[in-house]
Amino acid sequence: MAKIIINGGRKVAGQVTIGGAKNSTVALIPAAILADTPVQFDNVPQILDVKNLQYILAAMNVHSTFKDGDLSIDPTTIKEAPLPATAIKSLRASYYFMGALLGRFGRATVTFPGGDNLGARPIDQHIKGFEALGAKVTEKDDVINIDASENGLKGARIALDTVSVGATINIILAAVRAEGQTIIENVAKEPEIIDIATFLNNMGANIRGAGTDTIRITGVQTLEAKNTHTVIPDRIEAGTYMSLAAAFGDGVTVNNVIPEHLESYTSKLIEMGVDMKIGEDSVYIGPSKTLKPVAIKTMPYPGFATDLQQPITPLLFLADGESTITETIYPKRIRHIAELRRMGAEVSSVNPGEIKVNHSARLVGTTVEAAEIRAGAALVIAAVMADGQTTIDNASHILRGYDRLADKLQGLGVDLQIEGVDLINLMP
Ligand code: UD1
Repeated sequence: MAKIIINGGRKVAGQVTIGGAKNSTVALIPAAILADTPVQFDNVPQILDVKNLQYILAAMNVHSTFKDGDLSIDPTTIKEAPLPATAIKSLRASYYFMGALLGRFGRATVTFPGGDNLGARPIDQHIKGFEALGAKVTEKDDVINIDASENGLKGARIALDTVSVGATINIILAAVRAEGQTIIENVAKEPEIIDIATFLNNMGANIRGAGTDTIRITGVQTLEAKNTHTVIPDRIEAGTYMSLAAAFGDGVTVNNVIPEHLESYTSKLIEMGVDMKIGEDSVYIGPSKTLKPVAIKTMPYPGFATDLQQPITPLLFLADGESTITETIYPKRIRHIAELRRMGAEVSSVNPGEIKVNHSARLVGTTVEAAEIRAGAALVIAAVMADGQTTIDNASHILRGYDRLADKLQGLGVDLQIEGVDLINLMP
């Protein structure tokens, strides 16, 4: 089992460069199988999710290579084949193979990605979209079968009942080669959705309105990659380092940031009184003095990201009063709280989705467990702030989505070791 061991108490300083967005990457890789040509990406983060997705591609005879952020995928020899259930279940985003296979072959059989440590996480809106496009969806045991091979996929008007990143992207993937026009209403507006649409449009797709409430797609017959697609910077990784820098930094510059993607986050830092200079593609965070408490409510983009409520929590320990977090998207996203309390933090959740964070002058190192990726990120920050040694168990949850974490933290002066994981040979 992977562990991260941190000897805390030393302030961070220097520069850190943000990698490509995990949530774009995990959609771009399945999207690549829609292409009729080889596909190239750069600025791809070195995370376990990429390894697992490459492993799933290999099962379909899709060869890929990944080195120094450059990922090449050749889907021209793709074959329909059962997908490896363990890799599928290792990341929920493997549900994007439903939309991508449907777009490519008119049918898909994919193991249900399951719930995870955030709670149930239904995919009813994805299914509703596939059905509207003319697919028949059946579920048996753990496997979902989606089939439109008889009559083909036909464009349709789909109004989502819930604003969902996953459903928006999955329906785009299915509709991009469908016959006729698809209109999806009440879609999610995350920058990662624009990134996927840009990638597909550059290959000849016709997707309009990404980043607004309504997306219109006119199906095309072929998709051909003509240039390398650069993955957008990871706004959640950026926010995580900004939180660390503000909570326990002595001057940190976070590079490769699109500040517009972080506006609702940076406005909370400004409200707290964090010393911050926002540049064109970087943010400098100075040492913090007394900070003010804030009230945070997570919302779909452009609201405050649910993925940043846990990473911002250790920063709230510095405020001279009680901060509140209302988690409206995943009320079960509270599994960092018990662990932070064990480190001496004053943080609690009395009602589902309601978190109270109080000034916590001293954190102490101990053994804690990362229940999921962003809970783990909060623990990494707390461990850097804490006196003594912290061991974070189950750290593969963190490595799933944080690019070259050890190098980046060590570069900022953190005394850290990762044990029990071999990034190169993780998957066969
Ligand atoms: C994506 C992100 C995740 C982020 C989340 C919310 C990826 C790979 N993951 O997850 O990091 O925390 O957006 O910003 O991009 N819902 C339904 N039915 C559905 C789909 C969703 O009820 O069919 C609900 C969910 O339970 C949740 C809300 O809608 O309460 C938003 O979920 P969604 O945007 O779909 O999250 P993911 O795409 O899974």
